[in-house]
Amino acid sequence: MAEQKRILSGIRPTGPLHLGNLYGALKNWVKLQAEYRCFYFIADWHALTTEFENTSIIQPATKDIIKDWLAAGLDPEKSVIFVQSQIKEHAELYLLLGMLVTVSRLERVPSYKDFQQATGRELCNYGFLGYPVLQSADILMYRAHGVPVGEDQVPHIELTRELARRFNTLYGEIFPEPQPLLTQAPRVPGTDGRKMSKSYGNAIYLSDPPELITQKLKTMMTDPARKRRADKGDPEKCPVWDLHKIFSDEQTRNWVMDGCKSAGIGCLDCKGKLIPQVIQELEPMRKMRLYFDEHPSEAEEILEEGNKKARAFARETMQKVREAMKL
Ligand code: TRP
Ligand code: SF4
Repeated sequence: MAEQKRILSGIRPTGPLHLGNLYGALKNWVKLQAEYRCFYFIADWHALTTEFENTSIIQPATKDIIKDWLAAGLDPEKSVIFVQSQIKEHAELYLLLGMLVTVSRLERVPSYKDFQQATGRELCNYGFLGYPVLQSADILMYRAHGVPVGEDQVPHIELTRELARRFNTLYGEIFPEPQPLLTQAPRVPGTDGRKMSKSYGNAIYLSDPPELITQKLKTMMTDPARKRRADKGDPEKCPVWDLHKIFSDEQTRNWVMDGCKSAGIGCLDCKGKLIPQVIQELEPMRKMRLYFDEHPSEAEEILEEGNKKARAFARETMQKVREAMKL
């Protein structure tokens, strides 16, 4: 049997996961488990580039995300689930790859340029400049073929491909050139209508209890043109509608469409149909999270096992790398 293709992806631990993470990435990661050998990891060293003054958030966020992952269906029997900083080989490969890229190439990476423009040149640390090289090390370490990411990460995968080619040309074929895997994800707006994001304070978390979900959705922004109950609305201009598209069946969606446009229903009626759907969908995940809260050593053991598997794979890669480079 041909060797199974490998997938790798990671997330920076800056807080617990929300609906945007679930529908934007996690559901897809869960599906990929059926077809690929998957490596999913917490990029805690990557979190340091912005959180170096705030490091105490990283460990709790890491634990939270592991629980969210397991609750959402990442399966430790199928996937290797691990933490970047526990696999020291990432630092070694990062150093070696650093020789194969110029500073000016890194200065042209969009995430760096944007950050520099937003904060001013003085605030850009060396770690931030090197961020995409570390990301390349993460990917190449597991000789991944595919990397499921959002659009914003594609330039980093492009750099990874360049580094793989450069390494292979100089020292010998070790690394496959990884492909970014972009998947269609629904738009997941936060409670203020902007994209759901922890930093906007508009997120609904997988760990939110039903009362909190209810409260957040009841006060969620609607079509701004619909100020009064008697005003007709347009679902296409309403973030609540985006959530109906994810959570509600066709019959309910038709009811919303007709009722909103004719002012036959009010926004609270509309949200009243949505809220139980969201709660019901998240309930099994919340239960599983609670289970891990009560049995924290179970999640820790799963992670330890994952770290072990990742470490074994990383050691193998680094042996090949050192041999190829005559180190
Ligand atoms: N840079 C990614 C992000 O901010 C996180 C990340 C780090 C990553 N290393 C990775 C994603 C490797 C995919 C593969 O979302
Ligand atoms: Fe939005 Fe529903 Fe209100 Fe229409 S009725 S504006 S879709 S919340």
